[in-house]
Amino acid sequence: MKAMQVIFLTLLSVLAASAQVLKFAKCPKPAVQANFDASKYLGKWYEIMKLPTSFQKGECSIATYSLKSHGVIGVLNSELLDNGTVNSIVGSAKVKDPSEPAKLEVSFFEGSPPGPYWVLSTDYKGHSLVYGCVDYGLFSIELSWILSREPTLSEETVEELHSILSSIGIDVNKMVPTNQNETYCSAMNQ
Ligand SMILES: *[C@@H]1O[C@H](CO)[C@@H](O)[C@H](O)[C@H]1NC(C)=O
Ligand SMILES: *[C@@H]1O[C@H](CO)[C@@H](O)[C@H](O)[C@H]1NC(C)=O
Repeated sequence: MKAMQVIFLTLLSVLAASAQVLKFAKCPKPAVQANFDASKYLGKWYEIMKLPTSFQKGECSIATYSLKSHGVIGVLNSELLDNGTVNSIVGSAKVKDPSEPAKLEVSFFEGSPPGPYWVLSTDYKGHSLVYGCVDYGLFSIELSWILSREPTLSEETVEELHSILSSIGIDVNKMVPTNQNETYCSAMNQ
């Protein structure tokens, strides 16, 4: 019993240190974008806001999606680090069940466990709301990104997307805005 508590608390502090959003609840099962069409989703998206993650450390984050062979989407994530370096990571996304095309799984390197990337809402030309949640027994870790085709997104749209997240129990106050200042982010275009 004692040992279990120690393991559990150690695990908790590791997770807490990684600054991700940890919840004592199972993952919700939100509705996703109906009739999701990956071909219209390809191209460049600016990150406007996100739940904190352990793996993104920079600003000016951009995701670029491209069509690879047989239903595989290529993923290129770039961000600008504090020291002025552009950090990029390449991955791929796949639909697990063709009857649920908005539920993608993304992996970033050979052998890494794929992470859920669910498109909850997108109009393809303006915004996208992405959500991922992984269950770890009694608790879960949630990820979410608000993306835009432009470096900005109207407050009205952000509020609409926040209300979707609130409706599935996400504390939107935990979301952090991404700096997409054109001057600050100019190194991303080089
Ligand atoms: C900037 O920081 C990254 C990550 O810490 C490091 O890999 C890179 O070498 C640094 N670049 C410069 C120019 O200091
Ligand atoms: C963008 O950043 C520059 C300096 O990096 C600053 O002078 C400017 O005011 C910022 N613009 C906005 C809209 O925040």
